[in-house]
Amino acid sequence: MAERDSRVQAFLDGTPKRLLIGGQWEEAASGKTFATTNPATGEELAQVAEGDAADIDRAVKAARKAFEDGPWATMTAADRSNLIWKLADTIEAHSEEFAQLETLDNGKPLTVSRRDDVPGTVAYFRYYAGWPTKIQGDTVPVSVPDMFNYTLRQPVGVAGQIIPWNYPLMMAAWKLAPALAAGCTVVLKPAEQTPLSAILLGQVFQEAGFPDGVVNIVPSYGETAGAALVAHPGVDKIAFTGSTEVGRQVMRNAAGNLKKVSLELGGKSPNIVFADADLDLAAEGVAFGIFYNMGQDCTAGSRIFVQEKVYDRVASFVADFGNRQKVGDGMDESTEIGPLVSDEQLARVGNYLEVGSREGARVLAGGKRLQEGDFARGNFIAPTVFADARNSMRISQEEIFGPVVSIIPFKDFDEVLREANNIDYGLAAGLWTQDIRKAHKLAAALKAGTVWVNTYGPLDPASPFGGFKQSGMGREMGFHGIELYTEVKSVWVNLA
Ligand code: NAI
Ligand code: MG
Repeated sequence: MAERDSRVQAFLDGTPKRLLIGGQWEEAASGKTFATTNPATGEELAQVAEGDAADIDRAVKAARKAFEDGPWATMTAADRSNLIWKLADTIEAHSEEFAQLETLDNGKPLTVSRRDDVPGTVAYFRYYAGWPTKIQGDTVPVSVPDMFNYTLRQPVGVAGQIIPWNYPLMMAAWKLAPALAAGCTVVLKPAEQTPLSAILLGQVFQEAGFPDGVVNIVPSYGETAGAALVAHPGVDKIAFTGSTEVGRQVMRNAAGNLKKVSLELGGKSPNIVFADADLDLAAEGVAFGIFYNMGQDCTAGSRIFVQEKVYDRVASFVADFGNRQKVGDGMDESTEIGPLVSDEQLARVGNYLEVGSREGARVLAGGKRLQEGDFARGNFIAPTVFADARNSMRISQEEIFGPVVSIIPFKDFDEVLREANNIDYGLAAGLWTQDIRKAHKLAAALKAGTVWVNTYGPLDPASPFGGFKQSGMGREMGFHGIELYTEVKSVWVNLA
């Protein structure tokens, strides 16, 4: 086991876990708190103030005040840029605390929190730190005589941001960085399963010197505070990452004041292996594509399509890979697969294990909960491979969000294209072939926001990310992220 960082212990024991509103750490108006637990052990990590509608209202007012007047409203673009860069440096200085809190609260392996989540967060803020000085308008060659026309690109206002539990820190960064670069102020609602890294992030915002009220953080449940944030008339824009079902509710509930809405939702991404692929690379890639982050990933490659000729070879590689994974407490540095985030998630994923067997898929690896010895205390499930699956099965159509994969055989290009697109989702897709024509033809024809060719999973703050179909609307990353948080104004000047 990794030794618990003394600052993490101090944070857990000492720091009151409250709501950050207008620069103050406040109790919830109701006085209520909720427990957040370690999914590897069931241990209660902390009691956290539980925000509700009244707290959201206070937070929105604080964000409005910071947006309309005060130092943030008048700050130069260069100063905003420097401040976001300084935030990234400050997060980096707290790297080990963030990594350990993320692992304790979410369950993911510490080696992964250290390697991916925390550095990814720092890089993301650094990327957006460069944007404030590059957000500009145009001069427009209008044909109305004597008129001068130009555009201003201005912050949309107060942004409400609701994030999930699978990458708590990184999802906060994905939402916060472009909003702040654009000059917005924010009310952020972390997921109820994983509030701790967001609270530490709030402290770090203060340490970096952000003005009060620019970032407000309200740990809380979705049905109460989350819904109140979506419906609040003082919020100009809502950004949501989570389930497609709640995404639909968000769209409906944001209609009152016609908030701008961006949604990053579920997926059931195809990962397609042709017989002419570099099979060693492909087999490893598709296995990684499902088991990374215990499959709790919106881009998880949860439908592996393999061409018949190489089906058995790839399927048995993925099964072996699953069996070889070291499952355990994420704080153990040799762990590759941690627990699922919550009892609820364990029950949901566990149910799909039964569904798959009932539907007639063949269990090639896993297929069960792990409950012996140390596993008994946590939410562990064996990496599971369903072979001889069909695309029409529920296990192939519904987002499972666990280390469970369907491996589906196919004959040819046309069949796999049809089946890969035969789904309500469209977040990502992978394909493996050495035929460059096939690769580009399929990349263009797949209905997915991201297509990976002979790789699976890389993301970069400069490259757009988001979904086709019911995987969402809008694109994050790059200038697309800035567009989500800005309005364009056309200014007409009579020169006659
Ligand atoms: P969820 O969609 O309920 O939760 C995501 C966030 O939305 C959380 O912060 C939650 O508090 C909030 N929320 C919930 N109901 C809300 C409401 N009515 N109004 C406003 N905010 C609300 O997801 P949940 O229940 O944690 O997981 C269920 C399934 O959703 C997972 O099994 C997975 O399939 C999918 N999911 C997808 C994610 C993604 O990255 N696309 C992330 C998390 C879950
Ligand atoms: Mg939910």
